[in-house]
Amino acid sequence: MLVLGVLVVIATVATTVVSQLHPSEPAKYHQLPTLREQAVILDGWRDERVARIPQLLKKYDIDVWLMSQREYAEDTIWWSIKDALEFASHRRTVLLFHTTSSSLSGQPNPLRWVDNTGDVWPELRQILEDYNPKRIAVNVDRNIAFGGGLHVGEWEVLQEQLGAKWVERMVNEPMLGIEFVAARVPGQLEYYKQMQETTWALIEEAFSERVITSGITTTEDVEWWYREKMQEQNVSTWNHPRVSVITPESFPGWEGTKDIIQEGDLLHVDFGITAMGMNTDTQHMAYVLRTSEGEEGVPEGLKQGLKKANRMQDISLERMKAGKTGNQVLKECLDQMKLEGIEGQIYSHAIGDWGHSAGAVMGFTNLPEYVPVLGELEILSNTFYSIELYAYHFVPERNETLRFRIEEDAHWVDDKGGWEFVRGRQEKFHVVNSTTTRKPDMLRVQL
Ligand SMILES: *[C@@H]1O[C@H](CO)[C@@H](O)[C@H](O)[C@H]1NC(C)=O
Ligand SMILES: *[C@@H]1O[C@H](CO)[C@@H](O)[C@H](O)[C@H]1NC(C)=O
Ligand SMILES: *[C@@H]1O[C@H](CO)[C@@H](O)[C@H](O)[C@H]1NC(C)=O
Repeated sequence: MLVLGVLVVIATVATTVVSQLHPSEPAKYHQLPTLREQAVILDGWRDERVARIPQLLKKYDIDVWLMSQREYAEDTIWWSIKDALEFASHRRTVLLFHTTSSSLSGQPNPLRWVDNTGDVWPELRQILEDYNPKRIAVNVDRNIAFGGGLHVGEWEVLQEQLGAKWVERMVNEPMLGIEFVAARVPGQLEYYKQMQETTWALIEEAFSERVITSGITTTEDVEWWYREKMQEQNVSTWNHPRVSVITPESFPGWEGTKDIIQEGDLLHVDFGITAMGMNTDTQHMAYVLRTSEGEEGVPEGLKQGLKKANRMQDISLERMKAGKTGNQVLKECLDQMKLEGIEGQIYSHAIGDWGHSAGAVMGFTNLPEYVPVLGELEILSNTFYSIELYAYHFVPERNETLRFRIEEDAHWVDDKGGWEFVRGRQEKFHVVNSTTTRKPDMLRVQL
């Protein structure tokens, strides 16, 4: 009895510790540098990142890292090392990264061939003979995209052209690709912050009476509004925006729902933007005021649900220490949630060069407690992460248990050896206050 009492006290204290991180100012749209300026910035970042590769090879005891690809059948890694003026690889492009302490020191790194005659092969064989690498990394991983980008035709040609001597020295080391793609360079954060604010600005505008008129606007209308508005802002996306009316049934809702938005609806969006070689991934919720009934604010039950999800974000960031595996972090989070009486699910992932980028994942919607392979990777410092989750909460006003689904992007902060949200996080609902003369309930049509 006593022990239980103490536990309850701890749990109560813990649930009240929710940091205040909702920005006080409305988000504004940021203008990107001109394309010409962007090219210079992007190539600078790329050069900094490529300069780290020799170090990475040493860390994993690899002498050379060999990639081969053809125009339109690129290795996944190619997209993170390409020049800003390249939109595809050319002909057959062969890249050989090497360590600085080899017979190739002083040579370009990577060595690069663009070939459609076959001349590359004798040259490459000669270089291997001169250098005599013991371990040659090739991207043939069966499970991890960032370590498995070598196309099967290229793999066959490599084996044929290099022969048994070198093929026997080839190894699969997916951590090369994972670490290279995941690691950030300092200049990226400033622009990532701007992109994050633009993402918020899009949500704040979409989830307002400027875009939504209850009884008329559909969730799909809002999705397409995002698409057009992104185009106007000169950014693109890596995922069609998904707008849903949250109900006990609407999950995962990857496609969004097909509803006419009504007063009293709890709305949800999941979307991200793509610009300057980076991606965002954000989920927020909005409440449609019952304006016709003179409702002045968001029902308390909904606010409590959001607070619970915020608490899960805190739990996640606190436990995401570099060096732990994704599954370890996931288990610690679920244990802590249990202690605090919170039910819900976590499915966080790395973000950066890709929307779902290289690195450990913590849960998937269909794998809530343990993820093979990707969950067994270690969390890396100096990366971006998208904290994606939902809390279940019973909303008395609706007599329903709903999923409070939120997602925010976080960045590694060296000084504190941990994570911070790039632009805070949602702690207040976006509110749609649209006046409509129509009777909402007559217009609810399942399209
Ligand atoms: C988008 O790019 C065009 C062409 O460079 C430019 O005129 C316009 O101002 C940009 N829009 C925004 C919102 O940055
Ligand atoms: C919503 O809009 C109505 C009509 O314009 C206004 O009277 C009311 O104060 C607004 N409510 C809120 C919470 O902004
Ligand atoms: C709440 O919902 C439950 C089951 O979903 C139902 O049995 C109960 O009658 C409802 N309560 C009210 C007050 O509507």
